[in-house]
Amino acid sequence: MSTLWHGRFDGDPADELMAYTASIGFDERLAPDDIAGSRAHVRMLGRVGLLTDAEVAEVLAALDQTEQELASGEFAFAPEDEDIHTAVERRVTELAGPAGAKLHTGRSRNDQVAADLRLFAKRELAAIAADVIALQQVLLERAVAAGDAYLPGYTHLQRAQPVLLAHHLLAHGWALARDVDRLADARARLDVSPLGAGAVAGSSLPLDPDITAAELGFAARFDNSMDAVSDRDFVAEALFALTMVAIHLSRLGEEIVFWTSEETGFATLDDAYATGSSMLPQKKNPDIAELARAKAGRLIGNLTGLLATLKGLPMAYNRDLQEDKEPLFDTVDQVHLGVRAMTGLLSSIAFNTEAMAAAADAPTSAATDLAEHLVAQGMPFRDAHVVVGDLVRHSLEGEASLADLVRADPRLGAAAAELLAPGVPVTRRTTPGGAGPEPVAAQLEQFRARLKADAARFNQSQS
Ligand code: ARG
Repeated sequence: MSTLWHGRFDGDPADELMAYTASIGFDERLAPDDIAGSRAHVRMLGRVGLLTDAEVAEVLAALDQTEQELASGEFAFAPEDEDIHTAVERRVTELAGPAGAKLHTGRSRNDQVAADLRLFAKRELAAIAADVIALQQVLLERAVAAGDAYLPGYTHLQRAQPVLLAHHLLAHGWALARDVDRLADARARLDVSPLGAGAVAGSSLPLDPDITAAELGFAARFDNSMDAVSDRDFVAEALFALTMVAIHLSRLGEEIVFWTSEETGFATLDDAYATGSSMLPQKKNPDIAELARAKAGRLIGNLTGLLATLKGLPMAYNRDLQEDKEPLFDTVDQVHLGVRAMTGLLSSIAFNTEAMAAAADAPTSAATDLAEHLVAQGMPFRDAHVVVGDLVRHSLEGEASLADLVRADPRLGAAAAELLAPGVPVTRRTTPGGAGPEPVAAQLEQFRARLKADAARFNQSQS
């Protein structure tokens, strides 16, 4: 068996070794990036005079064919193809002969795999940011369409104060805005080419890492060859940014589970985004929302697993680093799927605003407004809290309705009782960033502007 390293060895590698150590089962996915990296490397080798123009052309043609074979599924993998780098180089050498055998000049799989994974991460983080922006767009549209609809705002999952539905939806929107920021930030930091670092120390050959960096569209090249081949901060950071998206999806998911439960009846899923029960004919289940909740757990595992792999690793490359890819691929795939499923779910969900209003119109929802009414007349808040708390207790004990008790109380009276009318409390949340109509109108504009800027920023940084 002719591995890339067979020269120094007497016999063939054991089957068990190959079975345990090979990464081709998952890193085949890096083929387009591996080919792009090889094209840039071979062009650089030509520019610095290590390959003739004819050799460069031969290798590039072989890379084209290899790419096409891989894309069409015709590519014949050999038993010794332990990873995608080996597979591509073997095929290029078969096709281009001695010129192909020069492809690996001044290069190691250590700098090669780091370059491939950075290219992959750059592309995927941008694509996911675009998906997240599409989800935010749906939240914005639903918030605008929600108009004056309101529902209870909860603390401790107990009804606290009414909030506009638009406000509630945008609370999730702003969390996602920070995610877009984090994805952009992680992407900018990983935009560094490690090619030219070699196995660990650079090369005696006249390589020019700036040429490969520029060819591949990286913003910069590495500064230190040992750091270049062993740095997986970028994978950990990408995983964190993506896991935070997943955690935000899980919070949205929990909201959807709650809103669609028969206990609240606040929302109804579109049939296309709900599932049925195999036994209970009446059921309509929010499985997307539940899986968004659950998958966040698995993605947290991917992140912490990688951090544990990196901890205590000596400089520089160690095979441990091969364990970076499966968590990254899994997390990227799950976040893509999750964001898209949640986008469809939210764009088609029906909000039952009457049920929301009925839940928010419980007179006790206005308790804070009563206390603030007393404060506006000069009563210290602590005292006002006691006055209103007393009335709430009496009404809960069945003495009279809260409205009657308020009306009868000389400190409050008929004007204060009007605060308890359905729909009134939410209109009184007037402070900046608050949950009432005025600040929410301003917030909608701010959110719209932020979304536009993020979309533009992302389109620019993708080019
Ligand atoms: N499959 C390896 C990885 O993913 C490629 C680098 C192998 N380098 C080595 N020295 N064995 O990390």
